[in-house]
Amino acid sequence: MKFLVLARVAMLNFTVNLAKKAGEYLRENFGKELNIEHKGRIDLVTQIDRNSQDMIVGEIFREFPHHSVIAEEGVDRTTGQEYTWFVDPLDGTVNYVHGIPFFCVSLGVFKDKKPYIGVCYNPISGDLFTAQSGKGAFRNGEKIKVSNTSLLVDSLVVTGFPYSLTGLDNSIMRFTRILREVQGIRRFGSAALDLCFVAAGSFDGFWEVGLHPWDMAAGVVVLLEAGGRASGLSGEELDPNNGDILASNGRIHDGLRRLM
Ligand code: IPD
Ligand code: CA
Ligand code: CA
Repeated sequence: MKFLVLARVAMLNFTVNLAKKAGEYLRENFGKELNIEHKGRIDLVTQIDRNSQDMIVGEIFREFPHHSVIAEEGVDRTTGQEYTWFVDPLDGTVNYVHGIPFFCVSLGVFKDKKPYIGVCYNPISGDLFTAQSGKGAFRNGEKIKVSNTSLLVDSLVVTGFPYSLTGLDNSIMRFTRILREVQGIRRFGSAALDLCFVAAGSFDGFWEVGLHPWDMAAGVVVLLEAGGRASGLSGEELDPNNGDILASNGRIHDGLRRLM
């Protein structure tokens, strides 16, 4: 048992160091000229995303050769082992490309399909969000928890929009329904940080459709450990592979769910 606890602390330290190393690389190149490619009409990738990912995935492969690794820019190694890493080497690429300092490295580990470790690092603000299941969530080493807001009218919520235009009308109708009930809605452009800011109590809720597991895995661990709730849009158990997520401080969850 003691060995398992120590092994997990070592894994968390490894993950934090990796996020910081990749984050430093993002920071050094922020504002420089970028090679921008389009994966879709508005879905961008740069050489910085790819290099950051190569570095992260290379180190995970070396340290944990038997773990599964799913990373945004084309890595999908499923080993059938209990641990799966979800890697977003740069969450918030559109912000990065436009010189907006709201992006992060997002590294989530699930064990037996359950949240295990989450680390999100914004190298510009220096915000480091960390969590291990059952051990709480932290921002720069300080424990964080979700807000106490219980009324939608007092709630500040955040969302994002998928790159694909499929389902856009539904998304807009949902947005309008929610806007009529809450204090305000923000769109900041990094799903991982959106989740961390719900965890830290700045936002009271977050939803988005069409995400990928690497967008949400780390942020979900941080949110759950901060006392929040994450589900599918109808309140069903969250399936990171499904991509639709409703996350909140727990208190406004049912109210938001009814508006989805
Ligand atoms: C995106 C960001 C954004 C969200 C998009 C994601 P990327 O990730 O998290 O906030 O709205 O759906 O795809 O492409 O910058 O890694
Ligand atoms: Ca992402
Ligand atoms: Ca990304």
